[in-house]
Amino acid sequence: MSVTLKGRSFLTLKDFTPGEIDYLINLSLELKQNKYNGIKKRLLEGKNIALIFEKPSTRTRCAFVVAAFDEGAHPEYLGKGDIQLGKKESVKDTARVLGRMFDGIQFRGFKHETVEALAKYAGVPVWNGLTERFHPTQALADFLTVKEHKGNLKGIKFVYVGDGRNNVANSLLIGASKLGLDFRIVSPRELFPDRELLAYTEETSKASGATITVTDDVDRGVDAADVIYADVWVSMGEEEQFEERINLLKPYQVNIDMMKKASDSAIFLHCLPAFHNRETAVGEEVYQKYGIPEMEVTGEVFESKQSVVFDQAENRVHTIKAVMVATLGG
Ligand code: CP
Ligand code: NVA
Repeated sequence: MSVTLKGRSFLTLKDFTPGEIDYLINLSLELKQNKYNGIKKRLLEGKNIALIFEKPSTRTRCAFVVAAFDEGAHPEYLGKGDIQLGKKESVKDTARVLGRMFDGIQFRGFKHETVEALAKYAGVPVWNGLTERFHPTQALADFLTVKEHKGNLKGIKFVYVGDGRNNVANSLLIGASKLGLDFRIVSPRELFPDRELLAYTEETSKASGATITVTDDVDRGVDAADVIYADVWVSMGEEEQFEERINLLKPYQVNIDMMKKASDSAIFLHCLPAFHNRETAVGEEVYQKYGIPEMEVTGEVFESKQSVVFDQAENRVHTIKAVMVATLGG
């Protein structure tokens, strides 16, 4: 099957067929191998890329920058306070200006509507580097990592544990339903995914053979898992909710006991950054206030052989590169 994504924006995996998602994962692998073998194709030679960030980022920002430079493009970082976006200039006008100057635009921020408006008016591909609802470039890197470690994706028992309705959970849910995984969200009922999104993935699962389970029962959810995945309990922009989330999510911490319920060869994934010790200002503050030295994952699991979180972080470069190369048309 020949796949062309030239000119397309990348806002959510909802907009992509299983074949297109598969294509992006395979293209990521090819670009990764090229990089490892020193093959420089400069597939984005002369392209200018705008990187708009309303929220902080280590991986996504660096992955876009490195991927752009690797392929001969020029990335321009536009951080919070650098441009007028929404303050003195509407999103619509900003989109039309940037679209005249740049070949592609990345947006990370709060409202999903902002990235949709950018895509609607820019006239060039817009890539979602995380909004409150979706984090699709993360999901691509996650699926690539699973494919590398497990050999395939279909039928893989992939368990996401924690805040079952955040941007990362939503994107994994959509992708897994399209790629035929045995995907489970294990979270307290208060944090179950949105009903509309679940109804959507029920439909997409029919074609792929995926099974989707949402449960608050940890034992049932993680049984024989091939992959256990965690994200932070409190996403960016929700910082007032630490106490409530800690109370809700304490039983869902990924620890050695939970890993023992998974398959012996299970891997642990986390989109990062992770709270697995007190070596961060926030981690220490949480410890002082609530008495817990680790949140969504224990240091023991994070540092274990089963943890492949840094392979996963590296894969952000290769997958983001694939998205840019595919949509800008080489
Ligand atoms: N996983 C992820 O998106 O990391 P950053 O917030 O550092 O970009
Ligand atoms: N759910 C997290 C993901 C961080 C990469 C957040 O939005 O903060």
